Amino acid sequence: MSEPALLEVDRLSAGYGQSQALFEVSLKVPARGTIAVLGRNGAGKSTLLKCVFGELAPMSGSLRFDGTAVEGEPAERRVRRGIGYVPQEQAIFAKLSVRENLLLGCVRQADRRAGMDYVLDFFPKLAERLTQTAGTLSGGERKMLAIGRALLGRPRLLMLDEPTEGVWIGVIEEIAARLKQLSREMAVILVEQHIELALDVASYAYVMERGQVALEGPAASVKGDPQLMRHLAP
Ligand SMILES: Nc1ncnc2c1ncn2[C@@H]1O[C@H](COP(=O)(O)OP(=O)(O)O)[C@@H](O)[C@H]1O
Ligand SMILES: [Mg+2]
Repeated sequence: MSEPALLEVDRLSAGYGQSQALFEVSLKVPARGTIAVLGRNGAGKSTLLKCVFGELAPMSGSLRFDGTAVEGEPAERRVRRGIGYVPQEQAIFAKLSVRENLLLGCVRQADRRAGMDYVLDFFPKLAERLTQTAGTLSGGERKMLAIGRALLGRPRLLMLDEPTEGVWIGVIEEIAARLKQLSREMAVILVEQHIELALDVASYAYVMERGQVALEGPAASVKGDPQLMRHLAP
């Protein structure tokens, strides 16, 4: 990649207590476009995002965001720098309405109206369900709500951990189309199990295996790499 990276992860190692989950992972994310992170269950994809966000402290290695070392900063500071994150696990408040969930994502009071309009325009399905309790939404609508809330924080980098997990096949296409749109506006790290979708949306891909980057390259070449399925097979 020739353009300067917005996020640069350099030889990042991390784990949980005695068990190490990431081993010297390096990756670069440009200011616009999607980077796909693929890998079978347990490969370390979510751990990587947790470290970038600041939910998990790395054991070693560095994280540079927009030229600044952020690995020692609290998550809240990184959010203010423009790092948005939709975790894999339930990222909505089930008992609150769609509107209330979205309002919680508005960082600046003054931007509320414009932010809400932007998100409801982006995901029209949410506009029809503003007063509905978030816990009663379909899988796809929940993911849209979680992404919508993250967008209200005006991220420069949006990290999505399996945004199509538990989403009905008919709605996956719709989410993929929105991801392509986001790709044009900001940097996105997309962790996905739907390999085709991820490699279609992304320009560059990293395939992780047992906490390491096993394969990387432009999405088109990763797609055609004969080793790809070997790294992803269960
Ligand atoms: N909270 C945790 N405590 C202990 N081990 C964990 C925890 N979360 C993940 N792990 C382990 O770290 C490794 C990487 O997990 P994870 O990053 O969730 O993988 P992926 O998202 O690629 O499925 C796995 O071996 C997993 O069991
Ligand atoms: Mg995961």
